[in-house]
Amino acid sequence: MIVTIDGPAGSGKSTAARGLSQRLGFEFLDTGAMYRCVALAVLNQGIDPADSKSVGDVSQQIRITFADAHVILNGEDVTQAIRTAEVSETASKVAQYPVVREALVDLQRQAAEGVNIVSEGRDQGTVVFPDALCKFFLIADPEERARRRFDEMQGQDQEITREEILQQIHQRDQRDESRTVAPLKPADDAVEINTSQLSIEEVLDQLEQTVRKRQAAS
Ligand code: DC
Repeated sequence: MIVTIDGPAGSGKSTAARGLSQRLGFEFLDTGAMYRCVALAVLNQGIDPADSKSVGDVSQQIRITFADAHVILNGEDVTQAIRTAEVSETASKVAQYPVVREALVDLQRQAAEGVNIVSEGRDQGTVVFPDALCKFFLIADPEERARRRFDEMQGQDQEITREEILQQIHQRDQRDESRTVAPLKPADDAVEINTSQLSIEEVLDQLEQTVRKRQAAS
């Protein structure tokens, strides 16, 4: 049984997806972390993100595993390292390459084989799991999303203003929505939720109720 949660950065989908997976007793897959891992590997190896061939090679050789809430890239814990602004920016760039998407989509489908899973990203409902039991698309107002990202980044030793974050969010949205392969958009049959005015518990209640209804009806 597969539940997908897609949406832009800061829409609250990571927290919602993780919380929903706990409530349902499902596995959780953070596909954004996978694109971030490719980006980090590219940066660490000194590869130019514009060099699609080399970036593609990296994506095909990469080993990504998840252990509890930790992300392991080629044997190294990169949970923190993949959350910098530089990695965010590069992830959005490498995510445009079809070869990268193909490699990661394969890994995502493998991760979902034979398990119940909540999978979170941009294209989970549209491309990766078109037959998912339940698809959600979370959105939030840009200012609220910038506020959340800013809060997230506190304590990470990164000097960035809320204004700069808002600008980056707009740029990334633009890139994610306008790319030709698997652009960010809701699936036709996705349930759309604006989380701006909702607490995390309220979001989780809505998600859980919808999934339980679908489960009962299927
Ligand atoms: O959700 P996130 O901010 O961790 O995602 C990082 C980048 O990866 C984001 O710019 C878009 C890209 N991404 C994607 O293209 N497809 C996904 N399924 C998940 C993330």
